[in-house]
Amino acid sequence: MTAPFPHLHLPATARLRLRPLQASDAQRIFEIWSDPEVMRFYDVAPLTRIGQAEDVVARLMQDTAERSGVRWAIVSASEGRLLGTCGFRLNFAFRSASLGFELERRFWRQGLMREALDAAITYAYDRLGMNRLQATTDLHNHASTALLASLGFVEEGVMRQWGYWKGAFHDVRLLSLIRSDRQPGAARQMNQPRQPPAGRSGSNAG
Ligand SMILES: CC(C)(COP(=O)(O)OP(=O)(O)OC[C@H]1O[C@@H](n2cnc3c(N)ncnc32)[C@H](O)[C@@H]1OP(=O)(O)O)[C@@H](O)C(=O)NCCC(=O)NCCS
Repeated sequence: MTAPFPHLHLPATARLRLRPLQASDAQRIFEIWSDPEVMRFYDVAPLTRIGQAEDVVARLMQDTAERSGVRWAIVSASEGRLLGTCGFRLNFAFRSASLGFELERRFWRQGLMREALDAAITYAYDRLGMNRLQATTDLHNHASTALLASLGFVEEGVMRQWGYWKGAFHDVRLLSLIRSDRQPGAARQMNQPRQPPAGRSGSNAG
């Protein structure tokens, strides 16, 4: 299932490993994706049945098989417990990818997702040959926006009424990280203001 890609098992940090999502992850995905706080800004409602999690995992694995996406399970290095996921929707022709991620709530604010995304971003540039990474976040998703800013993502603007879900149209913030923007170890250089490219809007704090 993961054959289309270079080695997908990533030793992210001392605390984390990234490995391809697998069917047996559905129970943990259900536990995480059924939390309304985790799903607050997602375009899907919190899951209520394990079958929905099985469908999510199957679809993400299918994307990998078709080379249209890659999704990792973020697991603790010590126990191998799944803490969340991250990954990309891939456009190889454009050399661009769209980022998605979520973490079980009790592990928030420990720097874990920043560590995981740092490894995933390195993989996207170095192993998949991507040039542009982008992410869209709900205007009110301050955690996600601040996390992306801490990784060097630059805000490009707001896409008005970008989509319809949960009974309403939603504006989303568009952020990007271009390969040439990135500096080694950028994820660890916290609290250092980053200058956006000339001509772009400046603020990307959440
Ligand atoms: C967004 C999310 C993945 C952040 O994961 P996390 O592991 O808590 O993030 P980190 O601890 O790595 O945070 C890295 C930086 O991001 C920023 N940040 C993260 N959460 C924040 C919050 N709640 N408020 C403000 N800044 C935040 C901070 O700058 C932080 O660095 P600091 O802790 O040194 O100040 C997590 O909140 C989550 O799963 N949310 C629900 C799912 C979701 O919204 N996904 C994104 C869809 S676009």
